[in-house]
Amino acid sequence: MNPLPLPAGEACALMGPPGSGKSTFARQHLKPTEIVSSDFCRALVADDENDQSATGDAFEVLHLIVDKRLARGRLTVIDATNLRSSDRAWLLARARHWKRLTTAVLFDVPLATVQAQNAGRDRVVPAHVVREFHGLLPTVDQLHDEGWDAVHLSSTLTRRSRTGR
Ligand code: CTP
Ligand code: MG
Repeated sequence: MNPLPLPAGEACALMGPPGSGKSTFARQHLKPTEIVSSDFCRALVADDENDQSATGDAFEVLHLIVDKRLARGRLTVIDATNLRSSDRAWLLARARHWKRLTTAVLFDVPLATVQAQNAGRDRVVPAHVVREFHGLLPTVDQLHDEGWDAVHLSSTLTRRSRTGR
């Protein structure tokens, strides 16, 4: 059973700083085609998921894929930091357009854990960038006010999937 409360057709955004575990979580719980990742889209257009100069083009591709999937009623999960309210506003607007429910999954991981996870991987993001992004994490109340239909904390979902509830 899929432990995630993400029914078909929903628009979902993972939200968290670099190294907080978004892609790991997505890989563990979702079909590859349900995940639309900004890193993957950077690789699609530039052969390098770290090429920050490709970010604009990558997001154009990401937006196109997300919009086509939402139009078809396919579960669509954006794997990007999604920490700027303007990024989140785009998905909320497109979901509203296609009459899809929206779910936010907030990676409520302590800064020290994120820094340790970031330091221990191949692609290390500078520590000050991680700290900056961590400081942008919205609160659950803020996300409800923005208009997300459901807001989940990654810590709760992970615990639930481990216990099978
Ligand atoms: N990781 C971990 N335990 C978790 C989640 C992640 O040890 N519960 C590790 C992963 O194995 C990886 C690192 O933390 O080495 C970063 O995880 P990743 O999923 O890549 O983080 P993202 O949030 O996707 O980072 P980015 O925004 O940079 O893509
Ligand atoms: Mg990632």
